[in-house]
Amino acid sequence: MSFRDEDLTDGGNGSLKKSKKKLKGESAWRPEGPRDPFALLDSLPEKKQQEIQRALHLFSLGTSLPKTLREAKKHTYRFWDTQPVPKLGDNVTAHGPIVGSEGSIRDEPYTLPPGFSWDTLDLTNPCIMKELCSLLNENYMEDDDNTIRLDFSSEYLQWVLQPPDCQSQWHCGVRVQTNKKLVGFVAAVPADVRVYETEKQMVHVRLLCVHKKLRQKRMAPVLIRELTRRVNLRGLYQAVYTADIVLPTPLSSCRLWHRPLNPRKLMEVNYPRLRQNMNLQRALKFNRLPEVTNTKGLRPMTKEDAPRILPLLQEHLCKFKLSPVLSQPQLEHWLLPRENVIDTYVVEGDDGSLTDVVSFYTVTSRVLNHPVHTGLRAAHLLYVISTGTELTDLMGDALILAKSKGFDIFTAFDVMDNASFLEKLKFAVSDKSLHYYLYNWTCPWMSPDEVGLVLPS
Ligand SMILES: CC(C)(COP(=O)(O)OP(=O)(O)OC[C@H]1O[C@@H](n2cnc3c(N)ncnc32)[C@H](O)[C@@H]1OP(=O)(O)O)[C@@H](O)C(=O)NCCC(=O)NCCS
Repeated sequence: MSFRDEDLTDGGNGSLKKSKKKLKGESAWRPEGPRDPFALLDSLPEKKQQEIQRALHLFSLGTSLPKTLREAKKHTYRFWDTQPVPKLGDNVTAHGPIVGSEGSIRDEPYTLPPGFSWDTLDLTNPCIMKELCSLLNENYMEDDDNTIRLDFSSEYLQWVLQPPDCQSQWHCGVRVQTNKKLVGFVAAVPADVRVYETEKQMVHVRLLCVHKKLRQKRMAPVLIRELTRRVNLRGLYQAVYTADIVLPTPLSSCRLWHRPLNPRKLMEVNYPRLRQNMNLQRALKFNRLPEVTNTKGLRPMTKEDAPRILPLLQEHLCKFKLSPVLSQPQLEHWLLPRENVIDTYVVEGDDGSLTDVVSFYTVTSRVLNHPVHTGLRAAHLLYVISTGTELTDLMGDALILAKSKGFDIFTAFDVMDNASFLEKLKFAVSDKSLHYYLYNWTCPWMSPDEVGLVLPS
């Protein structure tokens, strides 16, 4: 049994229509059939499970959501078609909310199937944070052939989910009632965003995740509706989010680029998005970097730099059609260096002025079943602002710094001004796209170089 979307559009009371079969606990979201295929899969050794997943991927037998606009046009969006988002194919010229804020907001949480309950996660509790890490590490995105898996640390999740003014109500979990196991999660964090000429208080939606055994049971729409309700209760009606699938309707789409820092290791782990036809010797030579940075006055950011970075960043972000509006506490939260989470460097001139900023965050992955390597570290570009140093030179130094800190690869989306240095610095384009979305806001499409917002997931 699973939720049907119409169960959730019943004029606000969200009551679950009674099923003839009485299903309890986790079985409410369990696949129907004589034998649970997941139990069958679980009984196999992990290596065998991976082989099966790889084969499914190869033959495209796995269910998948649209990755392109063309596929999206053939897909029926049972849930998203009920939501205040622009329709696919609409030529949007207007700017503004799709629905007003005058409707009543339901008081009660959306109904879950029997055996499941909502839980607002208190992420200041280390045990709960550990549970969230486990859910995400075992169930969040994997590379297509299931050999490299994202590995979230509690420090990283604190950074991503607990910025200033965050609301614990927006850390929304679903548990199995009997054993309290966390099986679903979605979060929102407050964010002021500038879209074209409008500054709007909204939320960033992050880390939507459903346990693998409960997939394709329509749990995601319930999580999204419940989070929307909780956000509405605080008087906010817009959200910004990203996804690698095409939903109605992307505001912009960008591509991921990557720059090997440790080509030997990337080749050894068969890094899936590395499509360079090179042997090891050539790859080592091609990707070689100087040992030391070149920019005079380049140093790690300190708290005292924040008031001087703020105007620099705001002026830079004003150039784009979609960008965050940051207060000083928010800037300190997002940029101040934290070990294994976020690195920010500034360039200080002889006169003490700050002219440039470059920041990148850490994305850690686990390498599964490899005889030598267990983990991979990627540095992902957050912001780069250059007013004194040439942008390509500054980014070249960022690569050197990342390599010296033990990162294996540097990644960046082709948003903002990034396209101007990606090829020059030997980044290669990957096959991974990322789409930007706004909830309950319509405005014309923008190209990636008009996007000034990066949302760490
Ligand atoms: C994303 C995820 C929660 C979706 O769960 P699921 O069990 O596959 O899907 P469900 O049956 O619960 O719901 C399907 C609906 O959710 C929508 N959906 C799926 N992924 C979505 C996403 N990332 N963002 C928004 N909506 C999404 C689908 O489009 C579908 O709605 P539709 O009928 O309008 O097309 C699940 O696949 C997951 O946990 N994946 C790993 C983590 C991840 O990739 N998170 C998203 C990061 S952007």
